[in-house]
Amino acid sequence: MGTPLTPYNSGESKKEQVATMFNNVAGTYDFLNHFFSVGIDKLWRRKLVKLIGKTKPKRILDVATGTADLAIAETKLHPEQIIGIDISEKMLEIGKTKTRHLPNIQLQVGDSENIQFAENTFDAVSVSFGVRNFENVNIGLKEMRRVLKPGGKVFILEFSKPNNWLIQKLYYFYFCNVLPFIGKLVSKDARAYTYLPESVRIFPDGKKFVELLQYAGYKNIECIPLTFGISTIYIAEK
Ligand SMILES: C[S@@+](CC[C@H](N)C(=O)[O-])C[C@H]1O[C@@H](n2cnc3c(N)ncnc32)[C@H](O)[C@@H]1O
Repeated sequence: MGTPLTPYNSGESKKEQVATMFNNVAGTYDFLNHFFSVGIDKLWRRKLVKLIGKTKPKRILDVATGTADLAIAETKLHPEQIIGIDISEKMLEIGKTKTRHLPNIQLQVGDSENIQFAENTFDAVSVSFGVRNFENVNIGLKEMRRVLKPGGKVFILEFSKPNNWLIQKLYYFYFCNVLPFIGKLVSKDARAYTYLPESVRIFPDGKKFVELLQYAGYKNIECIPLTFGISTIYIAEK
């Protein structure tokens, strides 16, 4: 995929820079997330959880869990255990505060490209708005497959590019102008909100992402576009 897009030009690895960026924005992340998407991100996560529920998972791994919004939504499925991992300690700190009263959620520092669990451990692996930030997407996808039980599924929610011409124009205007402007005012890291549209623009979506899942060894892959294709859910089986 060539040289990865990084948040800063600090010379550190993409992973270190991404962790720094999310540590910087952690305090305002939830507010800006819901504000920018006018709450639609919650509907997308809810839809994802509904689809996960069809497989009746007992153990779920939520990769790149951040402030744990998806892990919290997954408690509705009453699994025995939800483990959330992330490389950003500050995002996890906020997640831990939000999940204090939820004993079946455990949050811990962990890297999607070197997952600290044995193979065949989880019934489902989920990741929302995380894969785009991985340093090496192929390694991340393979690692998530490794820790899935045979027949287990990965559920991925990620931004994609809308197909409709008019929606595309409106979307890029909003994403490349409005969002960085407000992001700069509210968060402590102006770059985070210019990196976001840039990373979405270059990240493989639709068919191209399905190919990445195939390459990582998954089968029975589904691709479900949401809200004019602004986001997409991918489901793939080990
Ligand atoms: C946009 S946030 C998404 C957080 C959460 N899943 C949500 O839906 O709001 C992306 C998260 O991915 C995490 N991340 C990026 N690369 C990672 C990696 N290699 N392993 C684990 N987490 C990673 C970041 O630290 C950040 O918390």
